[in-house]
Amino acid sequence: MTAVPSPSAEIPVIELDPTAADHHGEAARLRAAGPVVRVVLPGGVRAWAVTTHALVEELVRHPDVSKDYRNWTAVKTGELADDNPIIGMIKVDNLVTADGAEHTRLRRPIIGQFTRKRVQDMVPAITAAATTLVDALPTTEVVDLRAHFAAQLPLQVICELLGVPDDQKARLRHLVDAIFRTDTTAEEVVQVQAEIPRLLGDLIRARADAPGDDLTSALIGVHAADPAALSAEELAGTLWVLLTAGHETTISLISNAVRAMLTHPEQLDAALAAEDPWPAVVAETLRWDAPIGNFPARYPLEDLTIGGVTIPAGDAVIAPYTAVNRDPAHHGADADRFDHAREQRGDLAFGAGRHSCPGSHLAEVEARIALAVLFDRHPKMTLAVPADDLPPVPSLFTNSVAALPVRLTP
Ligand code: HEM
Repeated sequence: MTAVPSPSAEIPVIELDPTAADHHGEAARLRAAGPVVRVVLPGGVRAWAVTTHALVEELVRHPDVSKDYRNWTAVKTGELADDNPIIGMIKVDNLVTADGAEHTRLRRPIIGQFTRKRVQDMVPAITAAATTLVDALPTTEVVDLRAHFAAQLPLQVICELLGVPDDQKARLRHLVDAIFRTDTTAEEVVQVQAEIPRLLGDLIRARADAPGDDLTSALIGVHAADPAALSAEELAGTLWVLLTAGHETTISLISNAVRAMLTHPEQLDAALAAEDPWPAVVAETLRWDAPIGNFPARYPLEDLTIGGVTIPAGDAVIAPYTAVNRDPAHHGADADRFDHAREQRGDLAFGAGRHSCPGSHLAEVEARIALAVLFDRHPKMTLAVPADDLPPVPSLFTNSVAALPVRLTP
């Protein structure tokens, strides 16, 4: 990330690094630059970021701020090109980009799937899947825990939930990885965008031909009963957001929690000596190392005065969740410190307001189970490389490691 001169006097302009070489360094620089900052996205596209917990809360709950990308001037003018690496996170048609009554209508068919009771019912299957994965870890001296464990469990859970056929899992994983990454070439972006509808078409056909006790079959039923309640395009869009938001983020949460434990051995010892430590470890990981770094985007419908700055209607504003989760004004002077014993003050890792994450409890439960099973079996695990050498996921959106090499035994 480099600071570049601002055209409009005192508001700093910060160019976000699409390779995310130093995610938390960049987050700290965003906070230091002020409560409202101009940012440069890939392709030189300009946007804004609000960098305090309080202002993100205000932004995401503001009634005159839309999530519909059609309200972004850069989309209307074509400045945001269709081969820009962020396009897969911007031009999506589902509840993430819907406002008002449309948003309520699209959220309704899925919200009931993620209640505490539903998630509780999934615990035995998630525990069995985590145990099988730990049993199957390679016996090599160094094991990439992201590839062999953190990436596998959420993929299995979401594929089970949505009835994704086994032979489609690798294809799904590849596409989801690609849309979150922001170091992709124009050719890759175009290829991935063309492949997504094909994958969704295959999934819908597979479940329409052989319906099961899964969410895809249920949503196909909602569409068949009343296409006005969920159109064919909306069905595909809903499946896509569940498949993407539903596993990439949880992969990062598990990876980040393991990383936090292995880089804070005294806190791992305290956790291993405690009765039920994993809910607190997961909560602190969500705060300290939020899996969604910067989430795009929101578009003021009227000029929006926030934090003393007026953002013009039609501009885009991102929510830098990793940055604001270490806001000292909200989390205290030691916000930068990982401490799973701290008293949590409420963080924004899952967003807030109408668009807050419906899958938050499922993600937390998956991560708690993953940690419990993993550290029960391998309590003496250590990182195999210095923490600073762990490669980041090259993404503005995902805050995590692309690989997590560990030694399972000393
Ligand atoms: C650690 C894991 C997860 C994190 C950090 C996370 C984070 C988020 C955040 C920050 C938002 C709101 C973005 C905004 O509008 O500003 C969101 C929305 C959403 N998430 Fe999650 N999420 C996670 C797991 C899941 C899971 C497991 C599912 C489903 C299986 C899911 C489904 C969704 C959906 C459907 C939305 C859109 C909600 C709406 O726009 O009304 N997420 N998530």
